[in-house]
Amino acid sequence: QQRVLTGITTSGTPHLGNYAGAIRPAIAASHQAGVESFYFLADYHALIKVQDPARVQRSTLEIAASWLACGLDPDKVWFYRQSDIPEIPELTWLLTCVAGKGLLNRAHAYKAAVDKNTLDGEDADAGITAGLFMYPVLMAADILVFNANKVPVGRDQVQHIEMARDFGARFNHLYGEHFRLPEAVIDESVATLPGLDGRKMSKSYDNTIPLFASPAEMKKLILGIKTDSRAPGEPKETEGSALFQLYQAFATPQESQAMAEAFASGIAWGEAKQALFERIDRDIAPMREKYEHLMARPGDIEDILQAGAKKARAIATPLLTRLRHAVGLRDLR
Ligand code: TYM
Repeated sequence: QQRVLTGITTSGTPHLGNYAGAIRPAIAASHQAGVESFYFLADYHALIKVQDPARVQRSTLEIAASWLACGLDPDKVWFYRQSDIPEIPELTWLLTCVAGKGLLNRAHAYKAAVDKNTLDGEDADAGITAGLFMYPVLMAADILVFNANKVPVGRDQVQHIEMARDFGARFNHLYGEHFRLPEAVIDESVATLPGLDGRKMSKSYDNTIPLFASPAEMKKLILGIKTDSRAPGEPKETEGSALFQLYQAFATPQESQAMAEAFASGIAWGEAKQALFERIDRDIAPMREKYEHLMARPGDIEDILQAGAKKARAIATPLLTRLRHAVGLRDLR
């Protein structure tokens, strides 16, 4: 049985990178026969970055509504909020006790924070919480608690999935074969979707295009994508062009080929941006309507999440009973 699982951190408004890197491939996977899908709102992860309760709650609602608007069917998949599953932090501790500290020292997010401190002439760990350091262990628990074997993500998350394999394998080695080891599933055409400035689209770079921005707002943002100064009529490079990569993430291979030819024959940047806006809007517009409808009914979303948590705990609770027994703890339940 294939089990697909992925999550999005509830630290802000979902953007096109989350959609193309995770939501779209995850929903496509959920329509395949013989696949069980687990999609969740990573609100414990959000606390690592965001200490504003209203923002966490708002983001949770927005991300839940986004999944549903993009076609997730809560009756066919397991759709839940991470913090509604107490077995996840419980497993996090069991994994913490087998996770190598040296491996965690090499996690990208932690290393980036240390490098920044060093550059700023600060103490290496200044301002870094143990939460940031432990991030990959919590993420491993998310995946292993449902024995998921496929994890659709953007390239930035691959290292975390490799760590989940490592922790799962160590646990299995010590306590018997409890976990399947997960693999990342990456859509190469969107592995890293660029943002407005050409760097990875990311909440932390403030270069995102919100998935459900109004058409006017989306158009304005797209017109602001960084391009070089080549004039209309001059051939343009597709290589390294954020505009082209964004187009490619939404277009069919034929449409992308046609756009590559337009680049070669000197399409004006303004015209290419208009084409990008129209291509994205064609996919997003029908979902935007559903999104707005859902956002007006937070109670309905909450009901869906509660039902999802119940369904998810029906799997997680017996697993934790087995794991507690395996490591020598008393049966709680
Ligand atoms: P997060 O919230 O940063 O991003 C959610 C998903 O969106 C993908 N993504 C991108 N893909 C392509 N291009 C981009 N510019 C881009 N930006 C974001 C991410 O790769 C991710 O798939 N730790 C995770 C959430 C998480 C999780 C998990 C994921 C928690 N537990 C278990 C999978 C399995 C995170 O912060 O993603």
